[in-house]
Amino acid sequence: MAFNLASDFDRALKAAAAAAGLEDASDFVPEVRTADARHGDFQANGVLGYAKARKLNPRATSEKIVAQLSGEVRDRCEITIAGPGFINFTLKPAALLEWLRTFSTREALAAGAAAAHAGQTWLVDYSSPNTAKQMHVGHLRSAVIGEAICRTLAFTGARVIRDNHLGDWGTQFGKLIHGYKRWANPAALAADPIEELERLYKLGHNATPDGSPELDEARRELVKLQNGDPENVRLWQKFTEESRLAFQQIYDRLGIRFDHFLGESFYNDKVDRVYRELGETGIAQESEGALVVFHPEHPRFKTQPFIVRKADGASNYASTDLATALYRAEHLHADGIVIVTDFRQADHFEQLFLTVKKWFTAKAYRVPELHHVSFGAVTGEDGKALKTRSGDVIRLKALLDEAEERAFAIVTEKNPDLPESDRRDIARIVGIGAVQYADLAQNRSSNYLFSWDKMLALEGNTAPYLLYAVARIHSIFRKAAVRPDDPAIEGIAIIPETPTEIALARKLTKFPDAIRLATESLRPHYLCLFLFELAGDYSSFNNADKVLVEDPPIRARRLLLCARTLLILDTGLQLLGLRTLTRM
Ligand code: ARG
Repeated sequence: MAFNLASDFDRALKAAAAAAGLEDASDFVPEVRTADARHGDFQANGVLGYAKARKLNPRATSEKIVAQLSGEVRDRCEITIAGPGFINFTLKPAALLEWLRTFSTREALAAGAAAAHAGQTWLVDYSSPNTAKQMHVGHLRSAVIGEAICRTLAFTGARVIRDNHLGDWGTQFGKLIHGYKRWANPAALAADPIEELERLYKLGHNATPDGSPELDEARRELVKLQNGDPENVRLWQKFTEESRLAFQQIYDRLGIRFDHFLGESFYNDKVDRVYRELGETGIAQESEGALVVFHPEHPRFKTQPFIVRKADGASNYASTDLATALYRAEHLHADGIVIVTDFRQADHFEQLFLTVKKWFTAKAYRVPELHHVSFGAVTGEDGKALKTRSGDVIRLKALLDEAEERAFAIVTEKNPDLPESDRRDIARIVGIGAVQYADLAQNRSSNYLFSWDKMLALEGNTAPYLLYAVARIHSIFRKAAVRPDDPAIEGIAIIPETPTEIALARKLTKFPDAIRLATESLRPHYLCLFLFELAGDYSSFNNADKVLVEDPPIRARRLLLCARTLLILDTGLQLLGLRTLTRM
């Protein structure tokens, strides 16, 4: 037994079903999940579906399976059959201690979780802003959710490729170059390049109304850029370079490092192959000069076309995304592709994925797993789009600054005696962590209700609450004058005994299943919820059971529980992209 619990029980149940001589035992999927704590630790629901499909009595089937369960499983748990045939496992206290001993490091926890994606390559396309513009509050979610997904995928064994699919190509560059050549202010460009580029784009846009000769000029600038005119290419490269530098300042604060910045422009010379292959396989058809794909099997996309090449022959968002999918499968060998954008692009990705599957299948290319991870808007507490007082969009930089400032005020109020630089360091971690965590803790499909007071509260499912729990456990170890990973603790510790010790230990064993749930669904809020509940069980334990008692075995078993809670909170928060503190 690898002692990974849910997956161990899964294996044991399958073996037992075979040993019991059940028909098609190899098709039996036990479906072991974390159980409602009243019923046990883990529950297998799979017998119901299996028995129903074969017109068997589910309860009797469960009994047959349970009778064949290995001695190892029986030694570790109480096993009961509930209701129509659920199989429940409740870990015995000795098994809890064994679990705590087994999962003593981050590596051990990762090894336990690694099976899910071992040997696979996953590409995550996230953040992906458009260049020559500031990142604003709308860009927060893709970066934060994408990074958490990268980290959990890597934890479950995947090789993760972080790709920033910059929006660095398109008609807007004609207007920007038009504005730049007329009104660029070198001093402003040096001081705040993106600010100045935004100003120039606006000037360029306003100076080129529809039907005006100026618009024709802007279009000519674009054509020159597309045809490789050295001056315009140089300008465009400058815009890209400045944008990347500005974006990186945000990424540094969020702890994000991309492996690639393969923006839309990278695919310019790769779209012709897309047109050719979609044409020759009969997947795309000409329609009024454009190249389009219909999906007859789909209620909407049988009539709503996916335009893969515009009528004027130009490529568009769909053409580049098709070329991108091929590049990722063919050159980056992605087994899975995750693209993180807001919900408004849902149709685009549904059409894209349908097209990719047909195209790759027709050409006998391997089809990767394709996921659009979509999320709701960022809104104020009133449910309306988040704006500054003057009604402008909020810049991401200003938002992160404000988070740190607000956290600084709170830290200063709590620890007025700490040196200012320490308070700044703490505030940075708490402030940025609060913004990240508030985003991740809500189901990503919902809107992100942005509230400074809620996200910075020391109570509730918030970053400060969890970071504080971590810091508090560190302080116990400081008092005890031992390190959390001191092997002596594990050596002396005895079996958990009090109800609060047992409840905490039982909760800890659910960490791998929380990771599974968050990774399978690509929804980090499951991990947040688990960490929040764990911190709650820890707090009940801490209130009921004094840790630093005289009796060495009892003290050691409580320190062991503290050490594992610390390890799992720390690991979980880092997987979400947060940094943690030893003091707060
Ligand atoms: N640049 C796009 C935007 O700002 C997001 C790109 C997402 N990735 C992709 N492969 N389409 O909305």
